[in-house]
Amino acid sequence: AGIILYADLILRGGNLSAKDRERLAVIQEQGQRAADLTQKILDFATESMLRRQNLDVNDFLRDMQMQLAHTLPENIHLHLTCPADEVITFADPDRLRQAIINLTLNAREAMPQGGNLHIALQRLHVADGADAPLPEMSAGEWAVITIADNGVGIAPEALPHIFEPFFTTRAPLGSGLGLAQVYGIVKQHGGFVDVSSELGKGTTFWLYLPRVAE
Ligand SMILES: Nc1ncnc2c1ncn2[C@@H]1O[C@H](COP(=O)(O)OP(=O)(O)OP(=O)(O)O)[C@@H](O)[C@H]1O
Ligand SMILES: [Mg+2]
Repeated sequence: AGIILYADLILRGGNLSAKDRERLAVIQEQGQRAADLTQKILDFATESMLRRQNLDVNDFLRDMQMQLAHTLPENIHLHLTCPADEVITFADPDRLRQAIINLTLNAREAMPQGGNLHIALQRLHVADGADAPLPEMSAGEWAVITIADNGVGIAPEALPHIFEPFFTTRAPLGSGLGLAQVYGIVKQHGGFVDVSSELGKGTTFWLYLPRVAE
């Protein structure tokens, strides 16, 4: 953060040649990348500092809709399906936003020809003794965020590895940390992630977050 700040101060100081300004801009950009990378690593490696609060994911996703639409090209259509009433979780909105952005960016990469991105929110009640969507999930109240694209899909041999840090099929552009970060963030919230994918058809991710009594 210091690097970015000082580069910014020098930039504002004026008295710089165009060349120097360009160089400073590169320093700032690289500094930002380093900061982003550090946050990604912290998110899956450690208990990063969460600022959790009672968060209505319904409101939250509706608020994010614009931002998400802006990160997508015109030929990718975003569909958001939310229930009518509140879905309350105990979550850090910044971290949850990051997870959803990472999934959206992956979907964008998977649909170079355009397509549809469906984001849906549902409540899920798992009764005592009933089957949960994942065997590790306990009975109780859950919020389910589904993020589905109709892009290129993930090869069956790659699927078991996608949440591993540094696993990427997009090197050198991809760092392979996006999904590791998603996994870390969801785990820190006591949640679960699931995925299903078919080559040429698309990919669906499910985020399960514990719900707080409304
Ligand atoms: N929606 C998706 N459709 C198809 N493949 C996907 C999708 N999401 C993830 N993948 C695959 O999983 C890999 C790992 O994803 P991850 O987000 O962790 O890394 P990345 O996107 O390659 O790089 P980074 O997110 O760090 O820029 C991707 O390289 C890609 O092969
Ligand atoms: Mg990614």
